[in-house]
Amino acid sequence: MNDEAQQPLPSSPSSRAALAPPALDPALFEALGKRVVADLARHLATLRDKPIRPTPSEADLARALNQALPEEGRAPEEIVAAIERDLLPYPTGNGHPGFLAWVVAPPAPVAVLADLVATGMNMMGGGAAPLPTNLGHCVCRWLMELVGFPAEGSMGLLVGGGSMANLTGLAVARHWAAKRDGWNLREEGLQAARPALVLYASDEAHSCIQKSVELLGLGNANLRRLPTDGDYRLDMAALKQAIAADRAAGRRPFCVVGNAGTVNTGAVDPLDAIAELCAAEDLWFHIDGAYGALGVCDPEAAPRFTGMERADSLALDPHKWLSVPLDCGCILVRDRALQRETFSLVPPYLQSPRGTPGDDRGDEVPLPFEHGFDLSRGFRALKVWATLMHLGRRGLAAKIARNNALARRLAEAIEAAPDLELLSRPQLSIVCFRYRPPESEDVDLDALNQAVNERINGAGEFFFTPTRLEGRFAQRACILHYATGEADIDLLVRRVRQVGEEAAAEGTAQGRTR
Ligand SMILES: Cc1ncc(COP(=O)(O)O)c(C=O)c1O
Repeated sequence: MNDEAQQPLPSSPSSRAALAPPALDPALFEALGKRVVADLARHLATLRDKPIRPTPSEADLARALNQALPEEGRAPEEIVAAIERDLLPYPTGNGHPGFLAWVVAPPAPVAVLADLVATGMNMMGGGAAPLPTNLGHCVCRWLMELVGFPAEGSMGLLVGGGSMANLTGLAVARHWAAKRDGWNLREEGLQAARPALVLYASDEAHSCIQKSVELLGLGNANLRRLPTDGDYRLDMAALKQAIAADRAAGRRPFCVVGNAGTVNTGAVDPLDAIAELCAAEDLWFHIDGAYGALGVCDPEAAPRFTGMERADSLALDPHKWLSVPLDCGCILVRDRALQRETFSLVPPYLQSPRGTPGDDRGDEVPLPFEHGFDLSRGFRALKVWATLMHLGRRGLAAKIARNNALARRLAEAIEAAPDLELLSRPQLSIVCFRYRPPESEDVDLDALNQAVNERINGAGEFFFTPTRLEGRFAQRACILHYATGEADIDLLVRRVRQVGEEAAAEGTAQGRTR
């Protein structure tokens, strides 16, 4: 708890008596606001000095879970004190420079402040409100510029995250395919007897692609999971073969999903070759760049992304590499009119008052709710705007290049260590590896690496989530933090080797060998 928590807050009993909750006395709001911002400043400044992922005790968790609904409202001071006591000490780790798990970034501090303002203003960003809608278009245009996506005639929409971004892009793809074949998907649905729409992706594609295929009614059986090459990139020969086989069987290939940075290894598929094939075969080209699309800002990585600009739709997540606080994804669609056709439904109660900026059926200022599923939406654009304003193009490029360089440093250290094995060479900022002691023929490497992972995570300096590559347990380090440095990477390598040696010795003693 902070010192200010002990100090009396200005109270104004008369106005408090007059104000029924949730109304709040402005002086008290200001005092509590200062206290909360001070709490947050301390929290962000001291993350590195604390255990990375402190867990509340079982008793605290049970207490939180079993709270009774309060019959009477509580004082705001009490609520803030409870946040300070019960929540703030237990972050999930992603603000810490040693956090290397999943694809979850630390928040850009300036965007934390911007988001507070966005929440306070509470503007409805789904419709014609000029600020949230126009700033949304502005930041989407900036994102397009950053990744080289053509802006003319395109649409960018901020959504909850990568899953929603991919779902939205694939919904437009499905609409496009039906239109191409001369039927009205919105009217008829997928109930009529028509050739099955088939979608292609590598077997490294994120699970949200399968969820999207299922939710869009295409059926998991019509998702082709194709093999990858030695670098976990989509095998083009397999893609061509699968499309030909489906056509021969009377099915309707309609969309290829390329990865611009897979979740497992950061692999970037051969985007240019996929674009070429999609053009030749008349298929929709969707890219999942939720994690990696911004990797194109690093000049060294940029050549991998050739062809990304040819996508019909591209998902990318500001809440990942850009460090915009959760949550914020983005879907870019090449044909804005088609996206509107896919989603627009404007009953009388949603029509804007005449003269409202944005009330323009000529599509001058496209309205978010006509281009996606959500109607109500917050002011996500402000935190994206604040982050990009603070970083600038150069700052972002430098941060991404730094993360990628650290991944290469990690890979080199792994290759130089006799007891570590590199499982995936970094294309962006993800490295997969495992502890493998010399003469390990009889060692159960999966069990040993599981133990290493648990010990490292338990020690509180680093946190990383494993994955499986070609059936093998893989340590996976995803470097996204702006404050992770070379010393962190070097320490990580030392710790893994040290812990690996200990676990191997104990494992042998306990007969944990094959
Ligand atoms: C490549 C990729 N696609 C999609 C997603 C899903 O994004 P979200 O968790 O924001 O829904 C992720 C998440 O890590 C990802 O790495």
